[in-house]
Amino acid sequence: MHSFEELSAVFSGKFSERHFPNEPSSLYNSTEYFLGLGGKRIRPVLCLMANELFDEIHADAWQVATAIELFHNFTLIHDDIMDRAPLRRGMETLHQKFGESTALLAGDVMLVKAYDYLNNIQSSHLKNIIHLFNKTATEVCEGQQLDMDFEKKKVVSLNDYLRMIELKTSALLAASLKMGSIIGGTTIRNQNLLYEFGKKLGNAFQVQDDYLDAFGDPKKFGKQTGGDIRSNKKTFLLIHALETCTAAQKKELLHQLKTNAEDKTEKVLSIFRDCKVDEWALYLKNKFLDEALSHLDEIAVVEKRKEPLQAVTHFLVQRDY
Ligand code: IPE
Ligand code: IPE
Ligand code: MG
Ligand code: MG
Ligand code: MG
Repeated sequence: MHSFEELSAVFSGKFSERHFPNEPSSLYNSTEYFLGLGGKRIRPVLCLMANELFDEIHADAWQVATAIELFHNFTLIHDDIMDRAPLRRGMETLHQKFGESTALLAGDVMLVKAYDYLNNIQSSHLKNIIHLFNKTATEVCEGQQLDMDFEKKKVVSLNDYLRMIELKTSALLAASLKMGSIIGGTTIRNQNLLYEFGKKLGNAFQVQDDYLDAFGDPKKFGKQTGGDIRSNKKTFLLIHALETCTAAQKKELLHQLKTNAEDKTEKVLSIFRDCKVDEWALYLKNKFLDEALSHLDEIAVVEKRKEPLQAVTHFLVQRDY
């Protein structure tokens, strides 16, 4: 059995090998740039860990893990265009550095390359894995559209927000785990429990991401903070503030949603603080963490084998980057 850190180091080494040709360099310099920025490599490592929960890591799991990380990077590149984000992993976003048209193509070519890696796996799992991969990719698109639709809506409920983050974020974490477990050769019941574990872990992960977007240290977080506030994202922070603040604060928040003033983030953050959104974030994260761990508990495999996944669960929701 390996820890997250051990598998992450091995995966990162393999993944840093070149995936694309040299020409046209105007396209492939951008893909090399972006993939070279690093990242936590959470999803591919979760896939490997899910395989290892049941059996030795199979060659197919490395192929699927590589496909997943390429897919994830594709979603980030397109997400940064949609969110007009200047920074990613502490560096300029791809579209900022190479232009939006190249960024669209860089994302597209990564998505296509992901299928080349999937195509390398043993035929007995291929159909099953492609089906789950495609279902997940569709869900990410749906979640991303809802995320943008919500920017324009005045009222979004906590349930709407949770449905949106399950699609845009949790679905991929869940699928990464399930794919690893399919390759690990476990029962359907265990595969599904791991998927549910991933869903809840993904929710906790996005709650932390949204919290860090407001309150994180940009130097550690690697992304510009305050972006969600400037884009009127309906995060759990805003939803909670609107539900719990005073009438005057609510009026101010609704006014800020209509402006682009210099001090918008500062004003909104101060109301967030007054409404104790940090306590609410902790509550939500712990709720999802407990739910995730209870699904992991139910998986029929010796307890000792679950330890690396339990450890990574705690790391992911406490992270500051
Ligand atoms: C960022 O994911 C996108 C979200 C779903 C919040 P990560 O935080 O895993 O990004 P990297 O790959 O480590 O940069
Ligand atoms: C998740 O949402 C994005 C994807 C599903 C790609 P965010 O827009 O919050 O992700 P970051 O904060 O830009 O990484
Ligand atoms: Mg986004
Ligand atoms: Mg974004
Ligand atoms: Mg974010």
